[in-house]
Amino acid sequence: MQKSAEIKPATVFRFAVFITLLVLASSLAINKTSSQTRMPDTIVLAKEAKLGQVTFNHMKHATETRSPDGAKQIACVDCHHTAQPAAEALKHPPHKTVWPADRTTTLTMELLEKNAATVVNVCTDCHARADAKPKLLPEIPSVKFEGSAEPTLMTNQQAFHRSCGACHDEVVKARPTLDPPPPTSKKCTACHKKAAA
Ligand code: HEC
Ligand code: HEC
Ligand code: HEC
Ligand code: HEC
Repeated sequence: MQKSAEIKPATVFRFAVFITLLVLASSLAINKTSSQTRMPDTIVLAKEAKLGQVTFNHMKHATETRSPDGAKQIACVDCHHTAQPAAEALKHPPHKTVWPADRTTTLTMELLEKNAATVVNVCTDCHARADAKPKLLPEIPSVKFEGSAEPTLMTNQQAFHRSCGACHDEVVKARPTLDPPPPTSKKCTACHKKAAA
């Protein structure tokens, strides 16, 4: 009885290691699921694209004057279009969906810094890859664009190409002398790069 109740130092050590790992793992899990309170600097997108991944300088796009005419910054909600109140989104058709639906705040860098609970959803939560089910919506949204007969299924490919490529095309039109020019929609491999093996 006495003997078996004794706890060996090795057992104590193993238990301590176990607890440490548990704490580490849970803090990692929390970091992954809670909204980030910092602006990511660069983001690697399209990790699953056959053409190669896309390295996106998020910070430069959000802080430099990168509007098509080069006069203004790009507002956070120009890209994060669901991170504003519904009344604001409705001013920019076809946009109407916001997240969460009763949202009252508009995403800015200040909001993100002072309110850790600010919701910033990644695009692919809604614009899933073709055939995948989006995390936040019952299905991938469709949009009927002016001049096209059929609605377009806004997969990740469509959403990013329309958001990123369309602006770059306008930039090159407005500032043809910009050197180097941003990657326009037809310059596939100016964005997509095979990762170095
Ligand atoms: C040119 C478009 C663009 C602009 C402007 C922009 N973002 Fe982003 N942002 C993105 C993209 C794309 C992602 C990555 C989405 C993904 O991984 O699918 C992202 C990711 C984020 C994330 C990380 C979300 C997560 O959970 O991983 C935060 C936070 C964020 N942006 C905040 C901001 C804030 C604040 C601003 C304005 C100061 C801003 N962004 C401006 C395109 C933009
Ligand atoms: C919460 C879900 C959700 C998130 C997150 C989201 N979208 Fe959307 N997106 C939609 C829906 C729904 C529509 C269709 C119009 C509407 O209902 O507002 C749409 C429409 C669009 C359109 C077509 C309209 C246009 O402006 O040409 C583009 C492009 C687009 N999204 C890009 C993006 C990008 C880029 C991101 C990430 C920075 C993003 N979306 C994040 C749900 C979302
Ligand atoms: C509203 C306009 C706008 C949007 C939206 C936009 N960009 Fe850009 N992007 C620019 C401009 C302007 C430049 C060129 C900046 C310069 O050279 O002065 C640029 C440059 C780039 C470059 C060259 C490297 C660099 O960052 O300087 C890459 C790559 C790029 N963008 C990727 C993307 C991706 C990916 C997206 C979508 C997630 C995106 N951009 C959305 C305006 C935009
Ligand atoms: C401005 C940068 C940019 C340019 C130019 C561009 N792409 Fe993309 N592309 C992206 C981004 C960003 C994504 C989606 C990112 C994600 O889902 O994380 C994407 C997604 C895709 C996908 C879907 C990948 C998948 O399986 O999820 C395909 C296919 C694709 N691009 C092909 C092309 C082709 C072909 C061209 C030229 C006609 C092109 N892209 C030009 C940035 C670009």
